[in-house]
Amino acid sequence: MNLHFTEEQEMTRKMVRKFAEEKVAPAIPMMEEHDAFPEELVRQMGELGLMGMPIPEKYGGMAMDYTSYVIAIHELSRVSAAVGVILSVHTSVGTNPILYFGTEEQKQRFIPKLASGEYLGAFALSEAGAGSDVSSMRTTAVKDGDHYVLNGSKMWITSGGYADTYIVFARTGKEAGNRNISAFIVEKDTPGFTVQPKEKKMGLKGSSTTPITFEDCRVPIENMLGEEGDGFKIAMANLDAGRIGIAAQALGIAEGALDAATAYAKERKQFGKPIGQMQGIGFKLADMATRVEGAKLLTYHAADLRTQGEAAGKEASMAKMFASDTAMAAAIECVQIHGGYGYTEDYAAERFFRDAKVTQIYEGTNEIQRIVISKHLLRD
Ligand code: CAA
Ligand code: FAD
Repeated sequence: MNLHFTEEQEMTRKMVRKFAEEKVAPAIPMMEEHDAFPEELVRQMGELGLMGMPIPEKYGGMAMDYTSYVIAIHELSRVSAAVGVILSVHTSVGTNPILYFGTEEQKQRFIPKLASGEYLGAFALSEAGAGSDVSSMRTTAVKDGDHYVLNGSKMWITSGGYADTYIVFARTGKEAGNRNISAFIVEKDTPGFTVQPKEKKMGLKGSSTTPITFEDCRVPIENMLGEEGDGFKIAMANLDAGRIGIAAQALGIAEGALDAATAYAKERKQFGKPIGQMQGIGFKLADMATRVEGAKLLTYHAADLRTQGEAAGKEASMAKMFASDTAMAAAIECVQIHGGYGYTEDYAAERFFRDAKVTQIYEGTNEIQRIVISKHLLRD
């Protein structure tokens, strides 16, 4: 793996860092205090081309490599994990399923709008009773003439209420298991589709997370992705790439926490000298920095495999698991290094702490990542 980024990738990093520091950072109080979805930032990300980075030009995207896209999530999440996850879900699991599994007609119809940011994408796999155990989902889709009629509910949908298209997974047969799960593109105005009130979360303030429900919701046959029964594999294949996005989000949080802790350790004085000069604090910074470097290597290695067009399921799970554990560990130490101030909303430390936790849970908990990694090891 070449660890030197290309000139173009470095330009992307500079551009996104500037956007994150100049536009995203000032919006954080609004997102934190009111849990307000950053609609204006999402519009600006569309203008910058960030909403369609790895999408081919013929569908209105920027035709950039996967590594550049991962750089963008990393840099956004260093400042705001909420903005990072909006981009990650929109691209990896909101748009890519159409790119990889859609018909030409579906691609022409939806991708240019998603890639430009005119549309925001969402992914609806989880249910109240089916999170890790995807195969136990209960939402149904019954064929009726030239439509499928969806009934049931999904939970935890990122960008719920703000997204225009939802990739929805539902059961198209009575038999239990994963073989009769199918995938559909559901547009927000479809009758029978309702967005429920958003969850009150510990962190990721600004990112909307809602249940969605389907009551005799008629979705045209032409909105089915792939064939009947392809849903489980479509979900898993896209999560392979999606998990690299969450690894990048976690890496961003970890780096943000390290930077904040280092700056504070240089500035805060106790016993007549900066606390960073105490070996106990210096060692914490050294451990944080080493873990961040490890997370960076794993995340960009998985991204590079995708850029080269190679399978990266195992590496994506490793990166997601390690980077999210690193984010949590770095955020805990960031609060500790800030002392009592770290426990207040006056510093970003407590926000990193609240935001880091979810990266160990979503897009497959870290226990599930271990299952995925061990299955690869035993199969390969
Ligand atoms: N690509 C293609 N096919 C795959 C695959 C992949 N990555 N992984 C599995 N499959 C196939 C298998 O080959 C198998 O096929 P056959 O039956 O033909 O042999 C089939 O799918 C079933 O595979 P498993 O036996 O491994 O399935 P399982 O029921 O044991 O479940 C699991 C495996 C890893 C636990 C899976 O259910 C899982 O990933 N759970 C976590 C769910 C998850 O990540 N949800 C995220 C929701 S989105 C989100 O959270 C958004 C956000 O972050 C903001
Ligand atoms: P459960 O599956 O009930 O797990 C509970 C505990 O049991 C966990 O610790 C888990 O690791 C453990 N466990 C379960 N099975 C095993 C096992 N076999 N071995 C060992 N331990 C196990 N989903 C979407 O579809 N779309 C989204 O956009 C989306 N966004 C989300 C945003 C947020 C903020 C959150 C919190 C969740 C989001 N999710 C989304 C859902 C997320 O993917 C699930 O929460 C996650 O997959 C875990 O499912 P669960 O919450 O039902 O936990």
